[in-house]
Amino acid sequence: MAYNEKVLDHYEKPRNVGSMDKDADDVGTGMVGAPSCGDVMKLQIKVDDNGVIEDAKFKTFGCGSAIASSSLVTEWIKGKTIDEALTIKNKDVAEELALPPVKVHCSVLAEDAIKAAVKDYREKQQKKGA
Ligand code: FES
Ligand code: FES
Repeated sequence: MAYNEKVLDHYEKPRNVGSMDKDADDVGTGMVGAPSCGDVMKLQIKVDDNGVIEDAKFKTFGCGSAIASSSLVTEWIKGKTIDEALTIKNKDVAEELALPPVKVHCSVLAEDAIKAAVKDYREKQQKKGA
């Protein structure tokens, strides 16, 4: 299968691989799975007091496209506000990486992981405020 160069680049040199303390107040964790293939993606964000994502990490157990998608979105969301991060669509990821149709769900995983991480972060903030 002919993989796009950007996919290979992210696959071979994934950015921001790792984990953060999931219990920290300023960290949101999103864990999502793709039912069709069983791949799993964990994406974490660290958010400052102004709602800006200062750091992002991922761990993906899955195919090269899923790894590339998660690596790419960690780069994209760093320095963005959480609201801006939520505007990233899987279509943007699939286009940037030129994913073939059978691999589009790998980019959906990345969009879902961002949403799940933001949701987790917001729930923590609400609890803190309550
Ligand atoms: Fe095996 Fe995605 S199905 S890597
Ligand atoms: Fe399932 Fe890529 S093949 S996430």
